[in-house]
Amino acid sequence: MAIAPTPDDRFSFGLWTVGYTGADPFGGPTRPPLDTVEAVTRLAELGAYGLTFHDDDLFPFGSSDAVRQTEIDRLKQALADTGLVVPMITTNLFSAPVFKDGGFTSNDRAVRRFALRKVLRNIDLAAELGAQTFVMWGGREGAEYDAAKDIRSALARYREAVNLLGDYVTDRGYDIRFAIEPKPNEPRGDILLPTVGHAMAFIETLERPELVGVNPEVGHEQMAGLNFTAGIAQALDAGKLFHIDLNGQRGIKYDQDLVFGHGDLHNAFSLVDLLENGGPGGGRAYDGPRHFDYKPSRTEDTAGVWDSAAANMRTYLLLKERAVAFRADPEVQEALAASRVPELAQPTLAAGESYDDLLADPASYESFAPDAYFGARGFGFVRLQQLALEHLLGAR
Ligand code: GCO
Ligand code: MN
Ligand code: MN
Repeated sequence: MAIAPTPDDRFSFGLWTVGYTGADPFGGPTRPPLDTVEAVTRLAELGAYGLTFHDDDLFPFGSSDAVRQTEIDRLKQALADTGLVVPMITTNLFSAPVFKDGGFTSNDRAVRRFALRKVLRNIDLAAELGAQTFVMWGGREGAEYDAAKDIRSALARYREAVNLLGDYVTDRGYDIRFAIEPKPNEPRGDILLPTVGHAMAFIETLERPELVGVNPEVGHEQMAGLNFTAGIAQALDAGKLFHIDLNGQRGIKYDQDLVFGHGDLHNAFSLVDLLENGGPGGGRAYDGPRHFDYKPSRTEDTAGVWDSAAANMRTYLLLKERAVAFRADPEVQEALAASRVPELAQPTLAAGESYDDLLADPASYESFAPDAYFGARGFGFVRLQQLALEHLLGAR
């Protein structure tokens, strides 16, 4: 099927994704390093619109100011040459040995102060490049041993850090919002703010909650056994879906970072359906970048890297097309109605009805016969799911 991604689709990729050389804890790289300019050029050719990166992806940790500036200038030139944009930037507070116990929440105060300086410097770069989202993935913010980390103090330090960053962008007049990326574990045994729900609760304790949302990743929620689409729906409900990391994961195991759709395909389908058709009036529910945070498998060569990058976008667009066909099918509409799915949008009480009115309504209780009402009748959810599967398979 002819499907060509365009910048209007707002597909973006982390420099560390296509740039992954295949190194893992059991073996070294299987591919040569990827130059930033090459990454920008190839992604633009494939139809992506955005590139994201950690500071240390662009210029190595500890670079001199001159090296740092050279790499920023090369990136800027490549962006100008291709039209690619940088919608999001993030800071690496996990690779350098100094961050072995975290950045914002290291037990060591000097490390925490250094981490804040590293992030502040990177926020200036985000503003310079026009990035409007600053992601915070706290991979090392956590512990392996309960006695080693005072979790309440760690949360207080996390809060202190994010509050300071909120003050900074506000005082500087930067058009930047923050997105916390939850993950349950890996590299730490347990990571702080492990799920979307934990992160959203934490955000409400901040001084400027309006500046902070979430950047949920498919695989991270699924590593915790959770339903990603349902988590995204709750983030949308809270107005907190500031960014999203799309990839594939098969069950509760290490972070696989597969191509989007190469994990739980049913959940990928419902996710795209939600993002594209779950908004008011059946339109888009989320307008931000469709950001892929995957790893081209270690088995692949350089050509395989670009094939896998294209596969992410193609799968998204195929699922989008399938989701539209699903919604447009009269039998699906009939099945949705039979399953009472639209009825859930109807408030349980009538307009202006009070609990006194409810108590005075015999139809709701005294004359309501629960067994007779629903005893023998089913909801038909399985039929609905089979229709979804048949659309997903292209069988309808
Ligand atoms: C991971 C994370 C990272 C973050 C990245 C951006 O599991 O390694 O998903 O890839 O998304 O650090 O903050
Ligand atoms: Mn991940
Ligand atoms: Mn991620």
